[in-house]
Amino acid sequence: MQIIRDLYTLRATLFSLRKDGGRIALVPTMGALHEGHMSLMRAAKAHAEHVVTSIFVNPKQFGVNEDLDAYPRQEAQDAAMLEAEGVAVLWAPTMDVMYPPGFTTSISVSGVREGLCGAARPGHFDGVATVVCKLFNQVCPDVALFGEKDYQQLAVIRRMAIDLDMGLEIIGVPTARAEDGLALSSRNAYLSPDERARAAELPRAMREAIEIIEDGGAIPTALEGLRQRLTQAGFAPVEYSELRDATSLESLVDLNAPARLLVAARLGKTRLIDNMPLNPVN
Ligand code: PAJ
Repeated sequence: MQIIRDLYTLRATLFSLRKDGGRIALVPTMGALHEGHMSLMRAAKAHAEHVVTSIFVNPKQFGVNEDLDAYPRQEAQDAAMLEAEGVAVLWAPTMDVMYPPGFTTSISVSGVREGLCGAARPGHFDGVATVVCKLFNQVCPDVALFGEKDYQQLAVIRRMAIDLDMGLEIIGVPTARAEDGLALSSRNAYLSPDERARAAELPRAMREAIEIIEDGGAIPTALEGLRQRLTQAGFAPVEYSELRDATSLESLVDLNAPARLLVAARLGKTRLIDNMPLNPVN
């Protein structure tokens, strides 16, 4: 696996990879890789001959009080995991390469970025869209893969790719979970052992609410029940627990289209997010 930090080498390497006619898949990450990320690498291999992974901790998507400085950085360990998975190129641009002095452009995808995580993290999805747009322009992949774990992010990127005629395929990969159901996340490392044990209540309570709604139960009552159960388990605050249209992310009053239950809640200092699909009731 080649580790590349400048655009000139990246372009030359991609040019020779493309010469054999193979497709290129891009998996953007911020590093601190875990099994959730590795499930994206495996899915990427099924869609393309060559996998390029990027690692860049993007300051533009962190708010002022967020964990940019504390965000785990472990490139050597990440590189070993990627190499073992058969990734061809690790694209690890420096800050100056990604945001040269004088950089002022921002990509803003309205609509899907509003509400949910967009409400609590102003500017976050503009930061994500901007860096992902740049990564697409740098690598020019045939296909790019993102986790459903960050469902609103996936919706923002899908919208951007359509709106800006980016002409690549965007693939969403189902959330990889620990045995007790907790969605894998780099931020789970911040949880104390006691918090980690209680965190599994999040997916359990979500599944219960989904069962109630799919059985025809009232949506507001099920969502309120979910909120109460999480509060009892020590989540504070429960930032949102909402049912949205699976594609547009517009609010839903009835389960008459494929939908998504999305939740964000804090356990101690750690903010956890999760989402799950619901099928329309006949
Ligand atoms: P990061 O949090 O490192 O995640 C990289 C990719 O891994 C994202 O597409 C995310 O949804 C996916 N992922 C994380 N946990 C997962 C899990 N448990 N199951 C499946 N996929 C999972 O998301 C970002 O980085 C950044 O915002 C980025 C897109 C790289 C832009 O900076």
